[in-house]
Amino acid sequence: MWLRKCSNVYYKTNIFKGLTKSTLSSLSNVNVLGIETSCDDTGCAVVNSEATILGEFLHSQNETHVKYGGVIPINARELHRDNIELAVDSALNNARIGMNDIDAIAVTAKPGLLLSLMIGVKYANFLAKKFKKPIIPVHHMEAHALVVRIYYNIPFPYLALLISGGHCLLTVVKDVDNFLLLGQTLDNAPGEVMDKAARRMKLKNIPEYSLISGGRAIELAAKNATNPSLFEFPVPLQKNRDCNFSFSGLKDSLVRKVIKKESEHGLMGDEIIPEIYDLCASFQTGITKHLAHRLERAVKFCELKNLLDNNAKNIVVSGGVACNDYIFSNLKSVVNHLGYNIYRPPHRVCTDNGIMIAWNGIEKTRKGIETCQFISPNDVHPISPLGVNIIDQVKEANVAVKSPRFREVN
Ligand code: KG4
Ligand code: ZN
Repeated sequence: MWLRKCSNVYYKTNIFKGLTKSTLSSLSNVNVLGIETSCDDTGCAVVNSEATILGEFLHSQNETHVKYGGVIPINARELHRDNIELAVDSALNNARIGMNDIDAIAVTAKPGLLLSLMIGVKYANFLAKKFKKPIIPVHHMEAHALVVRIYYNIPFPYLALLISGGHCLLTVVKDVDNFLLLGQTLDNAPGEVMDKAARRMKLKNIPEYSLISGGRAIELAAKNATNPSLFEFPVPLQKNRDCNFSFSGLKDSLVRKVIKKESEHGLMGDEIIPEIYDLCASFQTGITKHLAHRLERAVKFCELKNLLDNNAKNIVVSGGVACNDYIFSNLKSVVNHLGYNIYRPPHRVCTDNGIMIAWNGIEKTRKGIETCQFISPNDVHPISPLGVNIIDQVKEANVAVKSPRFREVN
């Protein structure tokens, strides 16, 4: 028996005996507890290797953050701290099992808000030590990309578009731990600009939108539009023949339009422009056209380089913005036209949750990927690139895409 120092905590490494990666991958049925605290959701779930969600619990901080005009990291940390124990206990209770029935603990270790990530990681370390369980560190975006496989039998490789409040990525998912990065946002993420746009349009002053995310509020408000093409939003980066994204121009253009209309109507304070619904619809269409344009180029690049299986032409969309039915239907129409199938997880699993983290643990145990006994704070990273970056190869390929091949589906 020997002792190893891990950031001021001493562990006896053989207390985990019997729970190594080889024993985990050989077990016929594995239960993994997943813990997600990378941003503003405290999510926990128990998933087994049959892809059954045994129990889950989600504490969303959204209402608090909407009130304060965005996620304040210190507040997010406090709320995670207040809810982490409840979230884990509730997920286990819902699963009708205890920690002794858990074979491994998967926890988001990167990327995300450092203060938020640390709460989940510390709690996972505490549980691992107390119950002698191995830990599986999880990359949040990899988890978004893989969770769809609980619901659909989608073989590797496939193309994934990950759209959330913190990220916008196009990636080829070659395996559980093998990703190619084709493109990413150069500035903001689509969920982030929708949240900011909703705040600038003062959507939360309309009671039905006061407690939901900005992205969801824009989707709902856009349904009330009478003239959805009233405002024009030019498609960003049209001349760049790559798969990168940029959303800040769309956001700035929206702010200019709001200011102009407010001044035309002589509005002050909390008053909302009468064209609000049309503006939401036009803005949502602008975002969708940009996503569709880059996705189409990614498909063509993959075909050129033979990166996807010719028989299974599968595309996955995931992350909070993938909940948006307008965006999803229009992406579907574009890729179906190109001969591809498109999938997304159920809405509640597109946004942050513990299920995707537990599932990532299952995928990793199946593959026999290394577990650990303790995650050091040095291994928790707010920023963490996804996979092998081949963005320059995409640029070099110089793939032309008629912009935008987009026939609107409502
Ligand atoms: O994946 P997620 O829960 O957290 C991050 O990892 O960022 O995504 C949250 C984002 C928020 O920006 C929220 O406004 C957006 O997802 N979102 C939506 C919708 N529901 C959530 N955006 C557009 N339409 C929706 N229905
Ligand atoms: Zn996320």
